[in-house]
Amino acid sequence: MVTRFGNLPGLVVCELLFTYTKEPERLMDYIKVASRGEFDSARFKRMRILARNIAIFKDDNDSFFAIEVNCKHQNADLTAGTLDGDLLTCPRHGWTYDIRTGACVNYDSAPLRRFDLKIEGDDIYISIHPVEA
Ligand code: FES
Repeated sequence: MVTRFGNLPGLVVCELLFTYTKEPERLMDYIKVASRGEFDSARFKRMRILARNIAIFKDDNDSFFAIEVNCKHQNADLTAGTLDGDLLTCPRHGWTYDIRTGACVNYDSAPLRRFDLKIEGDDIYISIHPVEA
C-alpha cells in the first residue's frame, strides 16, 4: 500500500521509502536471477552478484541451492570443475564441496558462503546476503 502525501518532490521520496519498508524482504534482499525452466537441461547457473561469483545448483531431488563458487584454496572457479551428484570438485587441486551446504568434504576448510533462495512459480530469487554460518 502506498500513501500519497502530495506532489512536492520531497514528499515523493517519502512515498518511495514507505513502499520499501512495507516489503523489505522482496524489494531489498532478494532479486530474481533465474527460472526453473533453465535447469531442465543444466545442473547449475553461474552469475555475478555484488562482486561475488555465485551459482545456483539443482540436486537430484529437484531442490535448489546457491553457493559462492570461488575455491577456498586458491580461488579457482569451481564451475569449471566437475559436478558428481551433490559434490563439486575444483579443477585445480581437487578440493571437493557439497553443493547443498558449501562444506569442503576432503580438506579442513571454511565452507563456501551459501545464499538463501525463494522460488515462486517458475521464478527463482536469491538473497543478496549470505546465510550466516
Ligand atoms: S584452487 Fe581449488 S583446490 Fe586449489
